[in-house]
Amino acid sequence: MKKKIIKIIKTKNKRPLVCLTAYSKPIAKILDKYCDIVLVGDSLATAMYGMKNTHNVTLEMMIQHGISVKSSLSKAVCVVDMPINTYRSIKEAKKNAKLLVKKTKCDAIKMECNGKNFKIIESVIKIGIPVMGHIGFTPQYYKKFRVHGLLEKDRLKLIDEAKKNEKAGVFCIVVECVVDFVANEITQSLKIPTIGIGSSIHCDGQILVTDDMLGLSGFYPRFVKKFAKLNNIIEKSVQKYNKDVLTKKFPNKQNTF
Ligand code: KIV
Repeated sequence: MKKKIIKIIKTKNKRPLVCLTAYSKPIAKILDKYCDIVLVGDSLATAMYGMKNTHNVTLEMMIQHGISVKSSLSKAVCVVDMPINTYRSIKEAKKNAKLLVKKTKCDAIKMECNGKNFKIIESVIKIGIPVMGHIGFTPQYYKKFRVHGLLEKDRLKLIDEAKKNEKAGVFCIVVECVVDFVANEITQSLKIPTIGIGSSIHCDGQILVTDDMLGLSGFYPRFVKKFAKLNNIIEKSVQKYNKDVLTKKFPNKQNTF
């Protein structure tokens, strides 16, 4: 296993892991200084492409964005999402995971858990590709957003899935929108780090969609703290550009050859 991946596992119980998503080279360059993991998430579907969910993301899209992000990462672990319908069988998963790693040179891939695909996840890890797991609200398998773990049967299912992911060999696991006491129980019961999104302070690390926390995507559920309102800054700049062009203030002498 790569040193970078081992370091992520060893960080558990020492300090929180800092993780964010990136889809492009310039954003990844900034994130690299401050993040342990940069995820090229299939959330690019909604955050970038205006799709209504992640169900039409292709392997080709993840490859292109993965290449772009990886090109400016040197410190952070680069994880690229396996899109829906690219890991339905062991054969399909191994073939597509190999291609994704070969083309993007990413350090690891992420695979969402559908409650059944543990053998598929394990088969990819067995060919030497590190996998980040993903349980709770998994957008590839759930249509409607909801908090997970409130019912006892849901709690038991989540704990079972977390343990089965760990047994399959994932090096860390995203826990999405899981109620705090269950996220805590999962975190305490695993040796690998849990990375929470909407799953409380009890997780070993945190991840957010960068476009959400910067106020760019227009998607602001309760668990997203807005660290900036870039939409306002961009709007003001475009407004000024519009005015300068219309009033012939731009381009001026300095901008002209
Ligand atoms: O696709 C994505 O960006 C994700 C994160 C929200 C964890 O899966």
